[in-house]
Amino acid sequence: AKILVLHGPNLNLLGAREPTIYGSDTLADINGRLAAQAQAAGHELAWFQSNAEHELIGRVHQARDERVAMILCNAGAFTHTSIALRDAFAAVAIPFIEVHLSNVHARERFRHHSYLADIAIGVICGFGADSYRLALDAVVARLAPR
Ligand code: DQA
Repeated sequence: AKILVLHGPNLNLLGAREPTIYGSDTLADINGRLAAQAQAAGHELAWFQSNAEHELIGRVHQARDERVAMILCNAGAFTHTSIALRDAFAAVAIPFIEVHLSNVHARERFRHHSYLADIAIGVICGFGADSYRLALDAVVARLAPR
């Protein structure tokens, strides 16, 4: 099946950006490992990063045309602000998992609320780059033939 990984604003700076919070892996490191993990499970993985809300929304719309089965989404700060991104996920009705590197609940209050969490399958946060691996495990488990 097709799996899409969406990375929101500032995640292009991973590795260099606040490494004590977000770790030293770059986005390329993470995407490379996810692609290998998906391939080993017999799935196809694409990824997309943007700092622009409208581009992320456009990519979610495109995912419907591409018959993407599931999305893994770290929307970055748009998690806490974007009703429009929420509406895009609701519109395409593609199941998704919300992912964060950091434990947003142990941080500033404004990071405690998510506009996506209640329409996601689930949320994985706080495990650094491993959050993505755990989320992909969950996706693969859901996609596995019964
Ligand atoms: C983040 C957490 C967000 O609050 C923050 O705005 C980010 C990264 C994370 O992966 O921990 O950009 O989504």
